[in-house]
Amino acid sequence: MNQRRDLGLVFRSRTPIVVIETEDESRILEMLQTMVMERTSNDYLPLFRWTVTDGLQRQDIALEPQKMNADPGDVLRHIRAVAKPGVYVLLDFHPFIADPVHVRLIKDICLQQAEIRRHIVLISHKIDLPSELEPYAARLELALPDEEERMQIIQRVADEWSASNPGSRVQADSKAYRMLVQNLAGLPHRDTEKLARNAIWQDGAITRSDLPEVMKAKYELLNRGGVLNFEYDTARFADVGGLGSLKTWLSHRRAALRRDNDAGHLDPPRGILLIGIQGCGKSLAAKATAGAFDVPLLRLDLGAVYDKYHGETERKLRESLHSADVMAPCVLWLDEIEKGLAGRGGETGTTQRVLGTFLTWMAEKKSLVFVVATANDISALPPELVRKGRFDEIFFVDLPDESTRSEIFAIHLQSRSQDPAKFDTASLAAAADGFSGAEIEQAIVSALYAAHAKKQALTRDHVAEELRRTRPLSVVMAEQLAALRLWADGRTVRAN
Ligand SMILES: Nc1ncnc2c1ncn2[C@@H]1O[C@H](COP(=O)(O)OP(=O)(O)OP(=O)(O)O)[C@@H](O)[C@H]1O
Ligand SMILES: [Mg+2]
Repeated sequence: MNQRRDLGLVFRSRTPIVVIETEDESRILEMLQTMVMERTSNDYLPLFRWTVTDGLQRQDIALEPQKMNADPGDVLRHIRAVAKPGVYVLLDFHPFIADPVHVRLIKDICLQQAEIRRHIVLISHKIDLPSELEPYAARLELALPDEEERMQIIQRVADEWSASNPGSRVQADSKAYRMLVQNLAGLPHRDTEKLARNAIWQDGAITRSDLPEVMKAKYELLNRGGVLNFEYDTARFADVGGLGSLKTWLSHRRAALRRDNDAGHLDPPRGILLIGIQGCGKSLAAKATAGAFDVPLLRLDLGAVYDKYHGETERKLRESLHSADVMAPCVLWLDEIEKGLAGRGGETGTTQRVLGTFLTWMAEKKSLVFVVATANDISALPPELVRKGRFDEIFFVDLPDESTRSEIFAIHLQSRSQDPAKFDTASLAAAADGFSGAEIEQAIVSALYAAHAKKQALTRDHVAEELRRTRPLSVVMAEQLAALRLWADGRTVRAN
C-alpha cells in the first residue's frame, strides 16, 4: 500500500519522468490503473502504455487496439506533438533511451511540464538514465512484500489450489507455515508467489520438507552471477568430535537466531571467528553450525569477489552480503578469511576496502545472518578483524585431547560402516597423541586401503600401523603451533 502512496506522491509533485526498475510490470500497471481511476474528473489523467511490439495504446479505457507509433522515436514525437496531459508508460524503453534524439525529445516534453501535465513512466528490469535527464526524474524503489502481504500471497495460492482440487484444503503444519512466511521474505511479489506455488502445488500441503526447496530456489533467484555459494552439505554436531564449549555456546544462541517464539527478547547473535590448527575441524564446525541451527548455509568466497574493474569488487561484495541478508535466517561462512584479505599484490587499497565493506556490514547488520569465519594463518589476519566487538566471540580450535581423539576415531569408523566397539578407540587415541582430526581420519582411510590390499577386514592393528607411519603436523610444525597458542592466549576463548 505504501507503494501506491509513493507513486501518488511522485505524480503530485509533477515529476515528469518516473523510473521504476522491476520485473513485475503488470503489478505496476495495475497500480497505475487504479490510481488514475481514483482521480476526480477535473484532474483526470489518461493512461497510455507503449511497447515496441504493440506501440502506444490507451490503457484506462477499452478502445479498439491500434498499432501506432511502435517506433521509439515516433512515440516520443507523438507525445510531444499531441500535447495532451497523461501518464505515458514506456515498457522496456531502456535499449533506446541513450539515443541523443530520444534524449532531446524527452527533454522537450519535460520542459513543457508546466503547461502540459505529462508523466513519462519508464518501466524496465534495469534502466540507466542519461545524465541530461536525471534532473527531471524520480526513481521509485519498490518495497518488497511485508509479512502481511506474504501471508496474503500464500493464502491466495492455497485458495487457487483448493479451487482446482474441489473438496480438499491445503494442509499446513503451523510451524512450517510460519517458516515459509519468513523464508519468502526479500523477494518481489512475482517470485514470492512463484515459490509459494511450487511449495503448495506439489502435494497440497505446507510441510517442513518444502522449506529446503524454497530456500534453494530463492537463493537461485537472488544470486544470479554472484559469488555466494549455497552449500547443500551441512553437518551435524554429532559429526564433530570435541569442541564442547563451542557447541554449548552455539546451542544457547539457536533460538535467538531462529526467532523462536520464546526468544523474541534476545539479541540476535552476529557471528564467530574460529582460529586454529589445521585439520582440527574449523570448516567442519562451520558446516555443523548451519546444521545445528537448521538454517541454510551460504559460503562466501572472498577471493572470488576481486574484479579488475574499479569499484566492481566492492559492488560484488555488497550484493553478496545483501543476498545473505535476504536469505536470513542463515549462516554465512567465510572459510580461510585471511586468504581473501591478504594484500593481493599491489592491490592493498582494494583489500582494505573489501575489509572495510565487510566490517561495516557486520557492524550495521540487523538481519539474522550468523557469520562463521575461519582462519589458520594469524600472521595474515588483519588486526581490525580480531579487535574486540567485531565478532561475538573468537574461538581457538586446538588439537584434540585424548578423549576427543577417541570420539573422532569412533565418528570416522562409524561413517565408514565399521563398528567402533571393535577397535578399542581408547588405545588408538592414546597412540595418536598430537594428531589432528584430519590426520586421524586419514589414518583410517589409509588403513582401509591396506586391509583391502591384504584382503582382510579392517582391524585396530591396521589403524595403529598407519598411526605409527605418520609424523603428525604437531611434530613437523611444533614451533608454529607454539606461536599460535601463545597468540591465542588472552585473545581467544577455547573451543574445546
Ligand atoms: N573434531 C573433529 N571431529 C570430527 N572430524 C574431524 C574433526 N576435526 C577434523 N575432522 C576431520 O578432518 C576433516 C578436515 O577438517 P576441517 O577441514 O574441518 O579442518 P580445518 O580446521 O578447517 O582445517 P584447515 O585449517 O586446514 O582448513 C573434516 O572434514 C573431518 O572429516
Ligand atoms: Mg578449513
